Amino acid sequence: MICRYSTLLVLLTFHGPNICSSEGPGRVRVFSLQRGLWTVPREDVYLRYNFSRDPLVQFSLCYRIRFERFTELNTHLSYTNSYANVDTVGVYHDEESLMVWLDGQGVTAALDEDAWKVHLEEWNHLCFTFTQTIFTIYWQGDEFFRARLDFSWVLAMNGTLIVGQEQDTLAGGFDATQVVVADVTQMSFWDRVLEPREVRDAASCRTLARGNVFSSDTSTVEEFGVSSEWVNLDQICKSPSTRYVIMPEERSFPDSINLCRLFNLTLAVPFGPEENALLTEALQPFRDVCAPSKDWKLWLGITDKEVEDVWREVSTSQIIEYRNFVSSYPIGGILYNCALFTVEGLWQDVPCKVTNRKCSACAVRNENFLRLRGLCYDSEYQTYFRLDGYIHGRPMFYGYYDMVIHFNADDDAWVLRNAFKNSTLLMLLKISRYSYPLGKFDWTVTADVCGKPLGSSLTLSLSACSSDQYMCDSGQCVPHAKRCNLYHDCHDKSDELDCFKVKVGDEYQRELPPTGPDNSILELKPNFKLVRIANVEDINMVVTLEFQITLTWIDDRVSLKHLHTQKGGIILTREEIQKLWVPRYQFMNLARGEKNLLEETISINSINNPQKSGFNDVDTDLTYPGSNNSLSIAQYYAGTFMCVFKYFSYPFDIQTCTIEIILPTKYEDSVKFVDENVKVTYAGSQDLALYTVQQVQIGEASGPRKMVLQYKLRRRPGVIMMTTFLPSALLLLVSWATLFIKLEALNVRAVMALTTLLVLYTLFSNVSKSLPTTAEIKLIDIWFFFIIFLLFSNIMVHVFIRETTTTVQCLKTLTKVRQIQVQSVSLGSNKVAVLFPFLNIYRMFIIPSLVILFNLVFWLYVFVL
Ligand SMILES: *[C@@H]1O[C@H](CO)[C@@H](O)[C@H](O)[C@H]1NC(C)=O
Ligand SMILES: *[C@@H]1O[C@H](CO)[C@@H](O)[C@H](O)[C@H]1NC(C)=O
Repeated sequence: MICRYSTLLVLLTFHGPNICSSEGPGRVRVFSLQRGLWTVPREDVYLRYNFSRDPLVQFSLCYRIRFERFTELNTHLSYTNSYANVDTVGVYHDEESLMVWLDGQGVTAALDEDAWKVHLEEWNHLCFTFTQTIFTIYWQGDEFFRARLDFSWVLAMNGTLIVGQEQDTLAGGFDATQVVVADVTQMSFWDRVLEPREVRDAASCRTLARGNVFSSDTSTVEEFGVSSEWVNLDQICKSPSTRYVIMPEERSFPDSINLCRLFNLTLAVPFGPEENALLTEALQPFRDVCAPSKDWKLWLGITDKEVEDVWREVSTSQIIEYRNFVSSYPIGGILYNCALFTVEGLWQDVPCKVTNRKCSACAVRNENFLRLRGLCYDSEYQTYFRLDGYIHGRPMFYGYYDMVIHFNADDDAWVLRNAFKNSTLLMLLKISRYSYPLGKFDWTVTADVCGKPLGSSLTLSLSACSSDQYMCDSGQCVPHAKRCNLYHDCHDKSDELDCFKVKVGDEYQRELPPTGPDNSILELKPNFKLVRIANVEDINMVVTLEFQITLTWIDDRVSLKHLHTQKGGIILTREEIQKLWVPRYQFMNLARGEKNLLEETISINSINNPQKSGFNDVDTDLTYPGSNNSLSIAQYYAGTFMCVFKYFSYPFDIQTCTIEIILPTKYEDSVKFVDENVKVTYAGSQDLALYTVQQVQIGEASGPRKMVLQYKLRRRPGVIMMTTFLPSALLLLVSWATLFIKLEALNVRAVMALTTLLVLYTLFSNVSKSLPTTAEIKLIDIWFFFIIFLLFSNIMVHVFIRETTTTVQCLKTLTKVRQIQVQSVSLGSNKVAVLFPFLNIYRMFIIPSLVILFNLVFWLYVFVL
C-alpha cells in the first residue's frame, strides 16, 4: 500500500525514478496472489498494467513465480491488446505442461510434457524471448525450449497485462478456476532479446533484471486483492532452508527415525546455528506438549554409537561438524549414544533406550511430497501432498490442489477436506492417536467423493512411494524387486502377502478360450520333447514312451503380477491355475488307452512390458499384460502308443511311429495349432537295445487341428545278424561241408545234412515267433527259404549220390571177385563218370554260385533299400 501511494506521489510530483526502488538497492517487490490455506480462489485478485507505447517486433519477458497450490489452469500472465485478440501473449501451465501463446497462437506445441516439473513453495525463474523467427524459453536460467516461429507478428503495446487471471476479453472475462495461487516478482518486459548470460544473471539474482518496457518493481501496477512487500533479492535466491516439522507425540528414538523415513524425510539435525535457531523456533509452539515438565524435548538424528564422541547423522552416517551441546555435555560416555534437543536449542546426550520417549522433528525440503492413492483424480499432481503447517496441534498434509489432510481434534480423527468447499470428504477414525495416516487405511466416506455412498469405506494410501516402488501396508517404500521375493523386506511383512501371479477380472470365463490377436482364432504353439522310449513291443506293435508336450498360448484377458526371474520358470500354483483357461487335447493313437500324466506345470514364459500402477491405484504392484507374456502348459506323460510296423525288410527295417494329438471338437472355431517353429527334441539315448532312434520331428499329417510327433526306429541288425544270419550261414556251410565227406559215410553225411536242416528250421521258427504273424513275406523269410532250399537240395544230393556209390561199390566188389560183367561195368563206370563230376560241379560251382548270386541280390536289395 505504501508503495502504491509512493508511486502515485512520484507520478504527481515528477520526482524522478520510482521511489519504490529506493526501498534499497537489491530489493524487489513480491506480490502474493490468492495465498492462504482456506483462501478460495477468486476472480478479482490480479495485477493490471495498461501499456501504451510503440509496437514491438521482438521482446523478452521474465518473471519469478512461487506456487502455493495449483489450479485447473495456472495463468501466470495474460496480455491482451484488443477484444479480438485475447491471447496476444499468454503463459499458462496445467498438470504437466507449460503453454505459451503469442499473437493468438500457441507456440509450445512441441514442448516435452515430462520436462516441466514444478514443486510448490520454491521460486521458479522463467524467461521468454521472441524474435520474428525464434522463440526461446529459459527456466531457472537455462535454456529449456526453443522453437521457430513461422508467422510474422507485431506486438501492439497498447493493451492490458493481467498477472494471475486469464483474460477472455480485454481486461476481463476472468474465471476463478484459471488463476494463479502464487507469489510473483520481478516481472519485466524488454524491447530486445536478452542474452543467455543476462538470463542466467537474472535467474541467479546477480541483477535486478528490470525491463526497459515494464518492470513490476518500477512500473505503476494496479493491484486487485493482492498483497505485496519488498524483499531483499538475495533472500529469494538463498537456497531454500530446510523446514522442520515437529511430530508432537513421544516416541522412542528408532520409532522417530522410522516415522520420518515413512515421510521420506530424515530426523532433524541442525547443521549450523541458523538451522539450530529454526528448529528452536519450530519447537516453541510445542514446548507444553512435548515433555511439558522437562527441558529436553526432541530427538536429534545423530548418534555416537560407533565411536565415542564422534557424532554421526543417522540417515547418512556422515560425521557432523556443527554441535551445540550444553557446555558440560556430552556426559554419558559410551552409555549415552543419543542426543536430545532442549527448548532453548541446546543439545544433551542421553541413552538411546526404547523406554526413553520424546517428540521428534523431521527435516522437510520442498521437493519432498507424499502421494495419496485411492481417489479418482484426473492428474498425478492432484495426488501430491506435502507436509506443511499444523492444525489442531498436529502436522497436516497440504495438497498440491485443493485437498488437505489434517487431524481433527473434535472428531478425534484424521480427515480429508476440500479446503475451498469447507467440506470433509473422508474420515479416518480407527487409528492410534500417535500415528499418522501413512500407509494403507480404510477411510469412511462422509461426503460425495468418487461417487461412493456416504458411510461406505474407501481404501486410501498415503506414502512417499513413487510408482517405481512397492508400498508396504505401513507406507514404507521398497523396490518392486523386493515384492514377493520370499524375504520380508517391509517391517510389517506385507511385501510377502498376496503374492498371486494371476489376476483376472470378474468377467473372465475360464471355460472360454481367449481370442487370438485381432479377434482371430487362438493359436497354440506346441513343443514336443520325447524323453525316453521305454519299450518297443514288436509282436504287439506298440511303443511305450515318456514325453512332454508343451503348449504355449497368449491370454490377453489376464494380468500377471509378481513375476521374478526364477530358475525353472515362473510356475503357477494350483489356485492360480484354477482361475485360468487351460488348453486340453486328446491322443489319437493310444494303445489300450494307456497313458499316465506324471507331471503338469503351467508357467509364465516371460517378464515383458511391466506396467506401473496408475497414480490413483492403491495397489502399487507392477502388472504384466497377458498379451505380452505367454503362458504355457507342460504335461509330462508316460504312454503306450500304437505303431504300424512294417516287417518286410526285417531285420533292416525302419519303423515310423507317431504320437498324435488332436484338439477337442468344442475348440473347433476358437483354437488351432500353429506348426511354425515347433520345437521337437529327443532327450533320450539315440541307441536303444534293438533300435536306433532317428528323425524325431513333426509329421506331415500335422495341421491346425492335429499335431503329429513322428520318429523313426531303425532296427539295429547287429544282434540279429549274429543270431540269425550268421548261424544260418554257418549251417549252410556245414551242410555244404557234408558234400565233401567220404561217399561211404552215408550215415554221417545224411544225418549231418538233415540236422542242419532241422537246426535251421528251429532257428527260423524262433525268429518267426519273435515277429508278429503277418501275411506278407519278409526278407528274412526269403533268406531262410533260400537256405532251406539249399539244405534240402544238399540232402537230396546226398540221397541221390548214395545210390550211385552203391553201384560203384558193387562194381568194386565184383572187380575184386573178378565177376566182370562188361555191360554192367561199362554202365557202372559210366554212372560214376557222370555222377562224380555232377557232385563236383554241384558242390564246387552250383552251391557257391547260387549262394553268391543270392547274396549279391539280397544284400544289394537290403542296402539299396
Ligand atoms: C486499464 O485498462 C482497463 C481496460 O481498458 C481500464 O478499465 C482501466 O481503467 C485502465 N487502467 C488505467 C490505470 O488506465
Ligand atoms: C467451515 O464450515 C463450518 C460450518 O460448516 C464453519 O463453522 C467453519 O468456520 C468453516 N470454516 C472455514 C474455514 O470456512
